[in-house]
Amino acid sequence: MPERTPPTLDQRPPELAVIVPTYNEAEAVAEVARRVASVLEGLDWELIFVDDDSPDGTAERARELARLDPRIRVIQRIGRRGLSSACIEGMLSTTAPYLAVMDGDLQHDEALLPHMLQAIRDEDLDIVVGSRYVAGGDLGDWSARRQGMSRLATWIGRTLIRAELSDPMSGFFIVRASVIHGCVRRLSGVGFKLLLDILSASKTPLRLRELPFRFRPRRTGQSKLDTTVLWEYLLMLIQKLVGPMIPLRFIAFSLIGAFGVLVHLSVLWPILHLLGEDAFLVGQATATLVAMTSNFFLNNLLTYRDLRLRGRQLLWGWLSFVLACSLGALANVGIADYLFRAGHSGWVLSALAGILVGAVWNYAVTAVYTWRRPANPI
Ligand code: GDD
Ligand code: MN
Repeated sequence: MPERTPPTLDQRPPELAVIVPTYNEAEAVAEVARRVASVLEGLDWELIFVDDDSPDGTAERARELARLDPRIRVIQRIGRRGLSSACIEGMLSTTAPYLAVMDGDLQHDEALLPHMLQAIRDEDLDIVVGSRYVAGGDLGDWSARRQGMSRLATWIGRTLIRAELSDPMSGFFIVRASVIHGCVRRLSGVGFKLLLDILSASKTPLRLRELPFRFRPRRTGQSKLDTTVLWEYLLMLIQKLVGPMIPLRFIAFSLIGAFGVLVHLSVLWPILHLLGEDAFLVGQATATLVAMTSNFFLNNLLTYRDLRLRGRQLLWGWLSFVLACSLGALANVGIADYLFRAGHSGWVLSALAGILVGAVWNYAVTAVYTWRRPANPI
């Protein structure tokens, strides 16, 4: 074991906190710590690993490092997942006025950290971003498909947030703590896109600058960025439009519900086409059941990714989902009919009100009975 550094009472509070989110990075954390310590030599820094209870024991490895160097700290979160929320938690746990976020798999070039710090401090900026897209930056060894996806997501993000930034998707940046404290309650905190989240949550335009770096290939472990990340990105963008009061799961549930309408119509249409209009009742019933079933599986896969039902639970889940949604449909029709007949609202408004009540009902009841969601929000 390396020698323990003697405790120093004159240790100054950190000027820079480097926040490193980790999930299954046990092989990399020691090297991350070694490199950070080496490039930040002479500065007052701390390194905070925020681990989501990785099964490979990353948190324990990180604690071993922290025992040897008091500038290293570990936050281990239980029953939680998410890159952005992990970073936010790390950011709120430090007193440092400058906060850097860097991946824990050695793909980000730590040598940029002192330059980022110097820029943000000396040029009086709010955020300095490590960019793969400005001159001198590079995507490294990414596949053409992933490069394409990244560019598309970047373009959408830039258009929506209107940020003068070449790489708003970067996971490598440094930000003033005061910026975070000012906007933390407006952050959505989902998915991977923390930088975009910060840019759009901040009320005043932020003074920013980009510094190029080369995205290194991953040496150990694997990327946790999969297609569900794109889905979470979409949810985050919608939440930015509708406001933070609407729960993310409800947005997901509603999107899937809207998709269910398409499923419904694409089942009903061929039945009517083949069997004629007499078959409407049969067609409508079949289409309803198919749409409910597909909604159930999609919600289980996406909306309740963290509470996913498996094996035999699926049968009960499906049954309770169909039952709840049938009652929801009754409520929907009842309310729409009542409003329409009361004569104050036209057919469109009546129908929309019915749909809204049905959707909220379905969402609330299936959250409790189908996915048995704990009462406190996560
Ligand atoms: N605590 C925590 N919880 N950490 C996580 C989680 C999570 O749920 N998911 C991923 N991480 C950690 C990883 O362990 C790694 O240190 C870092 O977050 C980035 O995850 P990767 O899985 O390596 O992401 P990537 O290399 O595919 O994506 C990178 O490039 C993207 C640019 O397109 C990241 O830097 C992204 O932030 C960036 O948007
Ligand atoms: Mn990575």
